[in-house]
Amino acid sequence: MAVDLLLGLQWGDEGKGKIVDVLTQDYDIIARFQGGPNAGHTLEFDGIKHVLHTIPSGIFHKNAVNVVGNGVVIDPVIFKKELDALKKFNLDVNAKLFISRKAHLILPTHRLLDAASEASKGKAKIGSTLKGIGPTYMDKTGRNGMRIGDLELSDWKEKYRSLANKHEAMINFYDVDIQYDLAELETDFFKAVEELKKLTFIDSEEYLYQAQKAGKKILAEGAQGSLLDIDFGTYPFVTSSNTTAAGACTGLGVAPNQIGAVKGIFKAYTTRVGSGPFPTELFDEDGETMGRVGNEFGATTGRPRRCGWLDLVALKYAVRVNGVTELMMMKGDVLSGFKKLKVCTAYNYKGEQIEHFPYNIEAENVTPVYSEMAGWKEDLTKMTSADQLPKELNDYIDFLEKELEVPIKIVSVGPDRTQTILR
Ligand code: IMP
Repeated sequence: MAVDLLLGLQWGDEGKGKIVDVLTQDYDIIARFQGGPNAGHTLEFDGIKHVLHTIPSGIFHKNAVNVVGNGVVIDPVIFKKELDALKKFNLDVNAKLFISRKAHLILPTHRLLDAASEASKGKAKIGSTLKGIGPTYMDKTGRNGMRIGDLELSDWKEKYRSLANKHEAMINFYDVDIQYDLAELETDFFKAVEELKKLTFIDSEEYLYQAQKAGKKILAEGAQGSLLDIDFGTYPFVTSSNTTAAGACTGLGVAPNQIGAVKGIFKAYTTRVGSGPFPTELFDEDGETMGRVGNEFGATTGRPRRCGWLDLVALKYAVRVNGVTELMMMKGDVLSGFKKLKVCTAYNYKGEQIEHFPYNIEAENVTPVYSEMAGWKEDLTKMTSADQLPKELNDYIDFLEKELEVPIKIVSVGPDRTQTILR
């Protein structure tokens, strides 16, 4: 039985949470494979809006088991808040939510290091969510990290202390003014760790292997987006994990030949939060309209997202790097009312026109080449089937499918579960 993947193809915030929630009815297990509480996956159903950061988006479905994989980094304090927010839904988290022993822990000092590192960069800052993601993955690859499984050992506090002491020395190394009260942060941390320890820790690669053998259907849930991938994203303005398909193999222990469908999600336009190059970014009324109508504010930080036209050069790159087999287009409804739509089909790059995603897409190297298409006036948000979609939207979809050479299977026309059109 294959493991299907669900990934964001742009700079994150494509709407993965909603789609995982919609698809969960077809799966027995939802497994997050990378990232941490820098993610904010928003779900809306029955008039309720809920944001998840670390917990997989299948948590609201009765029959699905949710696994936090080894590739994820976990902040116990934020995890506890997520659990608290779920209490009112009466979910049996002990039976529905398992955590990999190999997942790494975000310590309070990782968050402080993130803040110190960003402050030291001045204008060149990454625009990090400041959740400690970078420093935690640095400790993981530096072979210094603490893992969930360590919490089951009697000497875990000693290990914690020695790592936190090292971090404090590193914070002092940065010549920046970071105010903090570590004792207070640690009180919250230790309390949250005790809550975390009440959950079920597992050897997730073994669990998933056995589940596959037993014929269970598994969906691997990505976080962030392909253009934030540590290798293939717009480095250094990226996150610190592999957000692309290969990350699901390393982040869950699933072998490449076990991967089935690769479901890629993109918005009908493009957004980015944080710093870094964005060739199709708009600074005019159109960009402002996308942001306002699309309610483009970060689910984790509340920061306004930068908005722009769809970038097919970047999207093709993401489709190829991930081996996407089916596409899902989100927020088509936000483009209703635009007279003309633009789609970037090539870049002017250092004096020549190119159609591939080059090493450096800084604004001084790249200007977008656009194709124009007619927009549509109709409100899509009440539409329920593909035959109701306006002609101009169908033309837009046909054009994208031809360019990307992958079918668009879902068109999302609003944030609610029910506002999902299958094609
Ligand atoms: P970090 O992963 O928090 O260090 O942030 C690195 C970059 O990735 C920043 O530009 C963030 O805004 C961006 N980023 C991280 N997580 C997300 C996400 O879930 N959605 C969108 N952008 C993200």
